[in-house]
Amino acid sequence: MWKRAFAGVFGAAAALRLQSLSGTRHASSISSVVNSMLLRSLKEHYLEVAKMTMPPKVSPPAPFTIVKGAIDSNGPVLKRDYGDEEISIYVMRMVNAYDDEDGTTDQLFLHVDVSKPGQEESLNFLCGLYEDALGIHSVSMRPKLENSGYLVVPSQYTGPVFEELDERMRDAFNNFIEERGVNESLFKFLQAWLYVKDHRNLMRWFKTMGMFIDGGKPAKDA
Ligand SMILES: *[C@@H]1O[C@H](CO)[C@@H](O)[C@H](O)[C@H]1NC(C)=O
Repeated sequence: MWKRAFAGVFGAAAALRLQSLSGTRHASSISSVVNSMLLRSLKEHYLEVAKMTMPPKVSPPAPFTIVKGAIDSNGPVLKRDYGDEEISIYVMRMVNAYDDEDGTTDQLFLHVDVSKPGQEESLNFLCGLYEDALGIHSVSMRPKLENSGYLVVPSQYTGPVFEELDERMRDAFNNFIEERGVNESLFKFLQAWLYVKDHRNLMRWFKTMGMFIDGGKPAKDA
């Protein structure tokens, strides 16, 4: 479905490019034809995407709770307390992991942040999450972030290659996050949540693009 929506927009854009290359009309009239074609295409796709049915609301496995406003931010999605620790879960789509016609993905990228009061750094796990499995990719210490999302400092040491660690140490790290309730039971919720978020982002993309091209006027019906 996403693919179809995108293909439509890109197809229209390619057609516009051809048309303007071969056109001999006055620049401003070409530009207004181009604009109105693009606006029409954006609006059509906006309306098409707006009609898509969203998955039923799923609750996260207790005791995780949804972070307020997470759907419109880049911050953590889920939080829970574990003793005096705070566990925060961020979720990302694997690049190119649109696997199905319906735009769902069967693999997610998790960033699990374990923080303790009074500590300047938090413990960070990067994991792959599947419907029936969770695999750790890396473990490292990162500066604690207050709701500002997942910061990557390229030069920072991100820990040894996890696969190359001693098996008992890997198992122990797996048990460590498992004990904090981070396991495949989160998959269903996070998959649905990401789908809704992607849908919102796509709608906003059509809408803000249209408003910009239209000169900042709010697009009709959008
Ligand atoms: C995941 O963790 C929760 C909380 O610890 C537990 O109740 C659940 O059984 C676990 N699920 C699996 C599939 O291990």
